[in-house]
Amino acid sequence: MSSQKHVEMTAEELHCQYEYMAKVKEILQHRYVHPPLAHVHSFGCQANVSDGERIKGMLAEMGYGFTDSTDSADFILYNTCAIRKGAEDRVFGNVGELQHNKRSRKDMIIGLCGCMMQQEQVAAKIKKSYPHVDIVFGTHAMHKFPQILFQALTQKQRVFQIDDSENVIAEGLPIRRDGSYKAWIQIMYGCDNFCTYCIVPYVRGREHSRRPEKIVAEARELVAQGYKEITLLGQNVNSYGKGLDGDVSFSKLLRMINEIEGDFRVRFMTSHPKDCTHELLDTISQCDKVCRHIHLPVQSGSDRILKLMNRHYTRDQYLDLVRYARAKMPDVTFTSDIIVGFPSETHDDLLQTIKLIKEVEYDALFTFIYSKREGTKAAGMDDPVPEKEKSLWFRELQAAQTEVGSRHNAALVGKTLRVLADGHAKSGEGYLTGRTDSNAVVDFKADDGHIGKFVKVHITKALSWAVLGEIVDE
Ligand code: 5AD
Ligand code: SF4
Repeated sequence: MSSQKHVEMTAEELHCQYEYMAKVKEILQHRYVHPPLAHVHSFGCQANVSDGERIKGMLAEMGYGFTDSTDSADFILYNTCAIRKGAEDRVFGNVGELQHNKRSRKDMIIGLCGCMMQQEQVAAKIKKSYPHVDIVFGTHAMHKFPQILFQALTQKQRVFQIDDSENVIAEGLPIRRDGSYKAWIQIMYGCDNFCTYCIVPYVRGREHSRRPEKIVAEARELVAQGYKEITLLGQNVNSYGKGLDGDVSFSKLLRMINEIEGDFRVRFMTSHPKDCTHELLDTISQCDKVCRHIHLPVQSGSDRILKLMNRHYTRDQYLDLVRYARAKMPDVTFTSDIIVGFPSETHDDLLQTIKLIKEVEYDALFTFIYSKREGTKAAGMDDPVPEKEKSLWFRELQAAQTEVGSRHNAALVGKTLRVLADGHAKSGEGYLTGRTDSNAVVDFKADDGHIGKFVKVHITKALSWAVLGEIVDE
């Protein structure tokens, strides 16, 4: 499958949505004495969290304030995730509970959006069994949110917008970022890869890249505002630029962002190994602001399973990439996603994955038990291994990683590393936590004034999930 042509929201469409925002604002001013409150919760991955920030930007423009509590909210929106069944079950549970809120506050609005809602059968279930939900819209309709909310406020009926129309890139809509020193920038949307277990290509559509000049302008603005860390987001950032005119690639984009003056660092995720080129690894090694940490999901260490997953690389090709990167950047670290219990996986396949994680020496792993997603190719494959056994395999894998991770952390003791202080640590009173450029978690004693700043920390002790250190050279 190839990516679609680049389709941007037109100036008229953008203007039209701003008009809806103004109209909603006026309605709310008549309806409420104080600014109404919105509760927006995003489930799932960073792309969803970033979408949530865009939705909050539109809500702020329409005059909403924000609340963490569903009880005080006039508008509740759940931005949902469809990646695994567990994520969907959580959403259904939470939405069910909102019935009570609606009973005591008839005028409140409840909305659902995001990946789950892009699936017809889910939207149909909400329509039938969750009558207290007023608004449902999928990922393809996010840029029309002001219009949808306007309809919900003015018509006395529920609004369902889950058309499967082309995905458009919306530039120029407001955004309200959750953080003041760390920011996400979505550089592309959708996915063309159709890994056989994954629902993402079905709910987020084909790959679409934003224009590089828009991304660089956004990054420049963030740096000017004092942001210290920018994470470039996409399902497969390595294929950034497909469908755009001109000489565009992810390597080129990284170089452009690296050239922006200022004291900040750049992260990116997710890299698909099949598109991770030597050119990209050379670029990372040559760009001083780009963190030497690569999230490179391997999914499995067994060639047979990788083939069934439609991943387009072998374990040897993957290990070659790791070796090449380490030769260029001895301090580079890797993290990965792994699925345990893919249909037909055997314990031998799992042992190959465990062997691979020991060879790569991952810094950290995100491990998942395979979850069947209707509509994907893997959903039709034989899956004879009982869940109980998969849980045991899962624990076996995690135990192997705990050992690898601890070794990794122990190797940091004695080093002095740059850390972006991020907030209070679990280690104890007076401790802050942060991450090094290579993504290790570091806890250190410091006052709150350091939060959001880069500090140099001398690492003194390794724990299994983090390292401890002391600030030096303030
Ligand atoms: N079951 C379990 N894990 C999945 N992932 C994607 N789809 C599934 C599924 N059906 C995992 C992959 C991916 C991460 C974001 O979620 O490991 O890299
Ligand atoms: Fe899903 Fe594969 Fe696309 Fe990642 S690359 S979003 S795992 S289909």
